[in-house]
Amino acid sequence: MAQITFIDSAGQARTVQGDNGATVMETAIRNGVPEIEAECGGACACATCHVYVEPDWADKVGKPQPMEEDMLDFAWEVKPTSRLSCQIKIKPELDGLVVRTPSQQG
Ligand code: FES
Repeated sequence: MAQITFIDSAGQARTVQGDNGATVMETAIRNGVPEIEAECGGACACATCHVYVEPDWADKVGKPQPMEEDMLDFAWEVKPTSRLSCQIKIKPELDGLVVRTPSQQG
């Protein structure tokens, strides 16, 4: 289990529990977190699960794989810490992770 905090584009934070092995996107959808659409269901084929990883967490979360990087080209207002949340697997080291959601997806 890991606590994940999602901060929406208006600044409202929501902290939810995520299971190890689940993705950050799945955790968001399961908990009704707004601003994550995940149209492709986690296949790395839509870029509507885009999040900004808080800078303090960027190293622990790691960099996107090439396929994710290509898909990020289709995301809204990409920043250096942008990731597709369906490609971030929850593990104990990510307990306390904070990500922000963009005001728009796709
Ligand atoms: Fe489609 Fe993440 S859910 S790319």
